[in-house]
Formats: sequence, structure tokens, C-alpha cells
Amino acid sequence: MKDFLTLNDFSKEQILEILEIAKNIKNEVKKGIFTPYLKNQTLAMVFEKNSTRTRISFEVGMYQLGGHALFLDSKTTQLGRGEPIKDTARVISSMCNMAMLRVYKHADLKEFAKFAKIPVINGLSDLFHPVQLMADYLTMIELNAGKNIAYIGDSNNMCNSWLNLASIMGLNLSVAIPKNYKINDEVLKIAMNNAKISGAKIIVTNDPKIAIKDVDVVATDTWFSMGDEVSKDQKVRDFKGFLIDEDLMSLAKKDAILLHCLPAYRGYEISDKVFEKHSKEIFLEAENRLHVQKGIMVWLNKACKNS
Ligand code: CP
Ligand code: NVA
Repeated sequence: MKDFLTLNDFSKEQILEILEIAKNIKNEVKKGIFTPYLKNQTLAMVFEKNSTRTRISFEVGMYQLGGHALFLDSKTTQLGRGEPIKDTARVISSMCNMAMLRVYKHADLKEFAKFAKIPVINGLSDLFHPVQLMADYLTMIELNAGKNIAYIGDSNNMCNSWLNLASIMGLNLSVAIPKNYKINDEVLKIAMNNAKISGAKIIVTNDPKIAIKDVDVVATDTWFSMGDEVSKDQKVRDFKGFLIDEDLMSLAKKDAILLHCLPAYRGYEISDKVFEKHSKEIFLEAENRLHVQKGIMVWLNKACKNS
């Protein structure tokens, strides 16, 4: 049985396979064809944190695949009153076919997966946001973007997932994070090892101007992640020079695309002008969440049957 907790558990070929399924289903839906690949199946969605895109894409995606998704949050379930994750995992496994969780601690997601008998999907944890990166990569492919990427922002779940994706797929990634920030040691070590195999070039710098120079894709994320304990004022001080405005963006290739997983905080990680100039890419990226979520669920369902 296979879970989707981090891209690091997947090969380049498997990632491409999932995207191929997503692309095919997207094409079908654009023609008005809704094939019930997951007829009568149920997805339990457990949210410890807020969500717009993740909830909508999984819920709509499951419906369009002929199944049903249940929205559960930690406040209104017994999780909020202290029922252990391992018991919740066993109960959900006995009634649902798949689970997707958005959690504070990645360790909780692993604990859930350990006790679940169904595929478990990471809908964002403190460490990774793999379902988002699948949509980002699909967007890059659809827009024929080159393979030189700059991630400019916090050393957070999105940064880690960009490192996963680039190092597995053989993309070149320059990461710019503030001086006193650090990338998770294990994540960086695995990325550097993967890069040796895939041929990816990974660079980490504290200078956004170095990272963005001549890239094809600029990616960023909020400076204020959910569950982040550093104060907003401190973050604003730390991220001086990290705002992606027209001046910074002019250092990337002329036709560079810009990706933002959203929600965006204009005036902090991105200027309103740059956001609106690149809104076509950003909202295609958001829409692609729907298509890749379906690709992931259909792929997992198949992998589960074959195991
Ligand atoms: N990008 C993303 O995961 O959005 P939500 O937090 O709205 O789900
Ligand atoms: N890094 C952000 C991503 C939101 C989709 C967070 O964890 O809040």
C-alpha cells in the first residue's frame, strides 16, 4: 500500500505517471467527460488548519471521479477532545477508501499513516506540501517553462517540497532564504543526494538577486505560514530585500513565469503589480490543484489494488 506523504517517496517515473493521469483527466473534463474512476469511493479529509484550495480541489475532485469526500476538522471531531490519532486512523480506515490530512506536525501524519489501512495523502504539514508541488510542476509543463527555478522565501514546507521536486526531476533550483534561516538538514541532504543521480543543480543563498538571475521560473510563498511561531514584525525585518517586485523580477529571464501556491500577501512576499502581471500563471497553478489531486487519487487507488 502506498501513501503520498512526501515527493521523496516517489521516483521521477512515478511522478510523471501521476501527472499523465492528471493531464488525461483534465482533458476529459474539458470535453465534458466525467469518468467515474473512483465510483462509490470515499475520501476522509481531516483539517487541523485552514484551507481554500486543498479542500475545494479534493472535494470537487472526488465528486467528479464518482466518489464522495467528507470534510472533518480537528475541532468538531473527537480529535479535538484528545482521541488518539492512531485510533482515528483505524476508524477512518474501516469506513473510507482514502484519507487526506492537513496537519501541524508531519510526525502526526506519519503516525496516522502507520495505523491506517488505506492510502494517506499529505494535504500540507509543517515539513512538506507535496500535492501543491505536483500542481506547480504540471503548470510548468503546460506553460513550456524552462528548468531553471528560483524559490525566494521562507525555509518552510514549500521550500522543502521544491527541493524534493527539483532534485528528483533533475531541475535546477536556486533557493534564497534570509541569513539566519536554515533549511531542514535531512531535507537538504536528501535533495543533494537525489541531485547527484538526477543531474539537478541545487544552490542555496541568502541573496534573492543571485537566486533569481536568468531563471525561467520564480516561485515564492508567504512569509507567515500557518503554525509559524515567529512574530510577523520579526519576519518582516528578516525578509528585507525578499519582496518580489518589478526590480527583482527584471533579473529573471524576460519571459519567466511566476508561481505562488496562494494565499498571497501583497506588499510582503510579492508586489501587487508583479502578482497581477503573472496572475494567469498563478491561477492556472491553483486550478491545476483540482486536476493533480485527481491524478494522485486515481494513481493511489491503482497502486493499492496492485499491492
Ligand atoms: N495552496 C494551498 O494549499 O492553499 P490552501 O491553503 O487554500 O489549501
Ligand atoms: N507555507 C504555507 C503554505 C500555505 C499553502 C503554510 O504552511 O501556511
